[in-house]
Amino acid sequence: MAGSAAAAFTGISAGTARAAVPASPGVTYTNTIAEQRADPHIFKHTDGFYYFTATVPAYDRIVLRRATTIQGLTSASETTIWTRPATGTMGGYIWAPEIHFIGGKWYIYVAAGDANNIWHIRPYVLECADANPITGTWTVKGRIALPLDTFSLDATTFDVNGTRYLSWAQNDPAVGRGTNIYIAQMSNPWTITGAPVMISRPTAAWETAGGETVNEGPAVLQRNGKVFMTFSASATDANYCMGMLTASASANLLSASSWAKSTGPVFASFAATSQYGPGHNQFTVSEDGKSDILVYHDRSYKDISGSPLNDPNRRTRVQKIYWKADGTPDFGIPVAD
Ligand code: AHR
Repeated sequence: MAGSAAAAFTGISAGTARAAVPASPGVTYTNTIAEQRADPHIFKHTDGFYYFTATVPAYDRIVLRRATTIQGLTSASETTIWTRPATGTMGGYIWAPEIHFIGGKWYIYVAAGDANNIWHIRPYVLECADANPITGTWTVKGRIALPLDTFSLDATTFDVNGTRYLSWAQNDPAVGRGTNIYIAQMSNPWTITGAPVMISRPTAAWETAGGETVNEGPAVLQRNGKVFMTFSASATDANYCMGMLTASASANLLSASSWAKSTGPVFASFAATSQYGPGHNQFTVSEDGKSDILVYHDRSYKDISGSPLNDPNRRTRVQKIYWKADGTPDFGIPVAD
């Protein structure tokens, strides 16, 4: 099913007519983009290609596709650019790769466990200096050193006003069970500097549903002088949903008080379109550069037998983001297939 274009209109406030928010052109995609590809990440590069990576059900490797359109990713060939070792560090679960282009090189941020302890999940960075990351040579730069050596995953990086930051999910026993969202400044693409700051922890019912206490999968969208950081919350079944932290781009992003959390989910399961557990999202831009696109995974069914992590059917989907007159994103509902 294609997403639908809707004009953006603003109400006319009493006495003064405000210019309608200019409606960006409609853009439509046919979902699903990729079956059995969770935690999707689509990067639009200056070379005319969209690069797409995601978690595979076997949790054993990093795959990469590229196409000149988002829809083209559906049929694009998929290359394994790195496979976990049979033993040692990074030999366990391989989760949620992200591909970024920083300072003229490609970087992949990924969470990995160890072969002898698949739950020893920590964030790692791989680097490729070649122009084409699909055929290029990837090397492991190493683990992102964090002051607290605990379960940590879903690292993402972003630049605000020339400063590069890392945000990730991590357990801190002093805070409690589950994972919280942290931010730190970066001194290079694989190193943080300064003390990490916790900017969100799961406390509300919509963040602790399904027996899990989860804030994870941070992703950043910048527009209108604001930094919107979405994250995923609750168990990775139909309870999974997205929350959002908002900060001014001119604020001290390393201060927890700069971030305001949404009072509830900004994107959640929607039975009328048979979409369940939407989350671990990311953002890209439409082919014409005029629309922000929400990239996320979900399932087409509500009930899962066994552990959600063993259910392979989280699939990649995309849809246009609309903007409210107050300058905040409106993610709407997960559209139908
Ligand atoms: O898909 C593997 C892990 O499951 C991701 O890293 C996390 O965001 C999700 O809970």
